[in-house]
Amino acid sequence: MEKLKIVGGNKLSGTISCSGAKNAALPMLAATILSDKPVTFKNLPYLQDITTMFEILGSMGADITLNESMDFIISTANLNDFEARYELVKTMRASILVLGSLVAKHGFARIALPGGCAIGSRPVNFHLDALEQLGAKIELKSGYIEASCSKLVGCEINFPGISVTGTENIMMAAVLAKGQTILRNVAKEPEVEDLANFLNSMGAKVSGAGTDEIVIDGVDVLNESVFEIPADRIEAGTYLIAAAITGGDVTIHNIDAKRMNNIIDKLKLSGAAISVFNSSISLEMSNKTLKPVDISTAPYPGFPTDMQAQFTVLNSLSSGPSVVSENVFENRFMHVQELNRMGCDITIKGNNAFVKGVSNLNGAPVMATDLRASASLILAGLCASGETIVDRIYHIDRGYERIEEKLSYLGANITRLPN
Ligand code: EPU
Repeated sequence: MEKLKIVGGNKLSGTISCSGAKNAALPMLAATILSDKPVTFKNLPYLQDITTMFEILGSMGADITLNESMDFIISTANLNDFEARYELVKTMRASILVLGSLVAKHGFARIALPGGCAIGSRPVNFHLDALEQLGAKIELKSGYIEASCSKLVGCEINFPGISVTGTENIMMAAVLAKGQTILRNVAKEPEVEDLANFLNSMGAKVSGAGTDEIVIDGVDVLNESVFEIPADRIEAGTYLIAAAITGGDVTIHNIDAKRMNNIIDKLKLSGAAISVFNSSISLEMSNKTLKPVDISTAPYPGFPTDMQAQFTVLNSLSSGPSVVSENVFENRFMHVQELNRMGCDITIKGNNAFVKGVSNLNGAPVMATDLRASASLILAGLCASGETIVDRIYHIDRGYERIEEKLSYLGANITRLPN
C-alpha cells in the first residue's frame, strides 16, 4: 500500500489552485442518468471517488470520453443495466446517489445497501422514505435496495433530518416526476445549490436550493449541458489550515470565499490574517500565535463536519484549551488516537473533543481511517519534528487531488512512497 512520508517543519508559502469539488461532482455525475443527451464537465477533479462513480456509470452502459480540452463527456443514452454492485458501493457510500436518477428515468434501480463506515452508521432511510412518497416501491433484498415505479408523482416531502445526499437524491428523482414536488427541511450546502444549477442547465425547473425549501416542477426530458464543477471549499479550507499551522503565507486561486464563510470566520478567530478577493483567498500567519477556537459542527451554514479533523489539529497547536463538538456524525473522532500518538493532548467525551494546546508534535507512523482523518494526519505531520509516515492513503486519494504535489509546491517536504 502506498504511504506518504512527511518531514515536518517547513513554512508553507506560495499560490495554488483549488480543484473541483468532489461532493459537487458526484451528484452531478449521477444526474447525467436523467438525460439522453451528452453532458460535458469541465474541472472534474482527478480523484478515486470520481473514478468509482465512472465505474458505476460505465458498468450500467454509460459512454465516458475525454475531449482535447480534458473535459469529460458522459452519455447515458444507452444504459442497459440499472444496478450499482456491492463491490463498488462498499468503497464509496455516495454510490447511493444514482438511486433517484435511475428510478426517475428508467423506473427501476438495484443498489447495494451501503453499510456503516468509519465515521458513523450512516443510514439511508431519508432517501428511501422520500422516494416512496414520490411513488416508488422499495424492497430490501439480499443486501440490495430494489426500487421501482411506473412514473414518479410530485408531492410534498418533509425530511425528518437534514441530509446532503438525501436532498440531492430526491431532487434528482423529482426533476422528471409528474407535477410539482416541494422538499422541506433540506440541506442548504453549496453543493446542493450547485446540483440545482446543473439540473437547471439541462432544462430542469428547480428553485429554492440553498434555502430550507426546494420546489421542483417536473419536466418530461432533460437536454445536454456543458458545466464547470465549482471549486472544493473543503480542499481550500484544508490548505488554509496548512498555511496557518506552519506560520505560512498561502493564496488559493479559483475559490469563491462566500461558500467558506464559516471556515474563514474560525480561522480569523485563530489569529490568521485573511484577505478575500474575487476568486481567491490569502492567509498569512507569520509571527503570530495560534489562538484556540471552539468548534461545533452543524449542517450548512454551520461549521462543516468535513473540516472538523483538520481544525482539531490547528487547535492542538494553539496557545490554550478548546472544545471541538461533532454533531453531524456519531463516530468522527477516529483521527484523535493517531494525533495523540504524535503528541497532541485530546480527550474525547461523548461527541466532544477536549483539546489542550501543545508546543510541539513528534513525527510518527500513523494510520488514516477516513478521508478527512487522513488530511488531519498530514497536517500534523507538516508541523511535527522528524518524519511522519501516513499509511492507508487510499483514503486521501478519494478526495484530495494530487495533495503531495500541491503541498510540495508550497514548500512542504512530502513524498509518496510506493507499495
Ligand atoms: N442520516 C440519516 N438518515 C439518512 C441520511 C442521513 O439518519 O437517510 C444522518 C447521517 O447518519 C448523519 C446525518 O444524517 O448523521 C447527516 O448525513 P448526510 O446524509 O448529510 O451525509 P451524506 O449525504 O452521506 C455528505 C458528504 C459528506 C459530508 C456530509 C455532511 C457527499 C458525497 N458526502 O454525506 O462528505 O460529511 O454530507 O456534510 O456529499 C467527505 O467528503 O469526507 C464526506 C464524508
